[in-house]
Amino acid sequence: MITQAEVSEQADAARREQFPRGAALTLDDLTLAGREHLLDELREHEPVTWMPALGGWLVTSRDAAREVLSPAAPMTVEVEQNMVRNSLGPMMLTSDGESHDAQRRPFEAPFRNRDIELRYGERIAALAHRLIDELGPGAAAGEPFDLGARFASPFAVLMAGELLGLSLHDTERIDGFYSDFAGAMEYSGDPEPMRRADAARAELSALLLDELAAARRTPGHSLTSQVANDPSHGLSDDELAAQLRVVLFGAIETIQASVMNTLYLLAEHPDQEAAARDDRSLLAGAQEEARRLIPPVSFIERWTAAPVTIAGVEVPAHEFVGVSVLAANRDPAHFDDPLRFDLTRPNASRSLSFSFGVHACLGLHLARAQTTGAITALWDRLGRLRVLEAVEPEGFAFRKPAIMRVAAER
Ligand code: HEM
Repeated sequence: MITQAEVSEQADAARREQFPRGAALTLDDLTLAGREHLLDELREHEPVTWMPALGGWLVTSRDAAREVLSPAAPMTVEVEQNMVRNSLGPMMLTSDGESHDAQRRPFEAPFRNRDIELRYGERIAALAHRLIDELGPGAAAGEPFDLGARFASPFAVLMAGELLGLSLHDTERIDGFYSDFAGAMEYSGDPEPMRRADAARAELSALLLDELAAARRTPGHSLTSQVANDPSHGLSDDELAAQLRVVLFGAIETIQASVMNTLYLLAEHPDQEAAARDDRSLLAGAQEEARRLIPPVSFIERWTAAPVTIAGVEVPAHEFVGVSVLAANRDPAHFDDPLRFDLTRPNASRSLSFSFGVHACLGLHLARAQTTGAITALWDRLGRLRVLEAVEPEGFAFRKPAIMRVAAER
């Protein structure tokens, strides 16, 4: 963890006294499975708390989280401590205000729901079927396979490659870029991860700049081609490449988690799984509910640009505020019996899993289409999947099962 703000010993001591539950919380409590009840207690007693282990404030109620993420809040992401900015560079997710809007605007139209279905619906299905072919004939006969490594991860990586218009050879490098960027987002004091992220940024940008030029000569179906050939985008090629870098980063672990978490929760609720396999229209509610209960992105970071009062707690300027999406999505004030998995829950899509406000996920329609496409193809080809071995989903920023071995039920 990076030092977030210099807080005097006196202020720290006063805050610890005022917020004893937050003061006792560890980073493991925000990471490990089985500790979610601590967040429930926090939400009830200290929905905005001082968490010294985080070097900042932690928000666990949905109302307070919305206050933090609201466009009206004096919050910023343009700070030195923002490890995503340090790793991936300045782009929409790490920019505020007009600069953010100018960087995001050219990407709004390509990510509209209608366009996503038209452009990518068939590609998503084809990719999922190809990966199931690659599992070999044994899979349909009940041979076990690792759902993450053999299906969900390559599905996310290859789709990101298609979206960016990269060749298959380059797509294989995406995994490496992803790991290099992610590796630099946790501060360990070691300069090596940052050096690797710098190198990955330079290498990926060179590929993307080539792709932008190629797409102008021969327009294709990719997002890169769409933005390259849009005369109104108003961004330089370097700026376009910076946004494409975050599209790549945002589309990998999240999609993998969305597919795995949905199948994980459905396997734990066989009646609901059978209902969704019979009536595939229920899959939309199932994946929404799975993202609510186990959000692929479990933690969102902001910094105060000015003093602000969040749910009655005064937070000075230039301090760190973390939003626990996991806790906000289980807030009983908004979600009836919040720990119950219910694919017909009417307001599951009101979770904060795709965030809220100006940085709300740009790729949410694509994410929904990919999750549906992946699970539909698995069910169509392999029938019901039995879970042979799975580790409960966990993780600080991204949450998913580390291991999930499945087999077609025969
Ligand atoms: C289930 C899958 C996904 C989840 C749970 C998810 C979640 C999120 C969240 C929570 C944020 C906002 C973070 C913040 O407020 O600081 C975000 C932003 C973003 N996401 Fe996603 N995402 C998913 C899939 C995707 C996909 C498939 C793409 C692109 C292909 C994508 C592209 C982006 C981009 C570009 C942003 C930045 C938007 C901005 O700053 O204006 N995401 N996502």
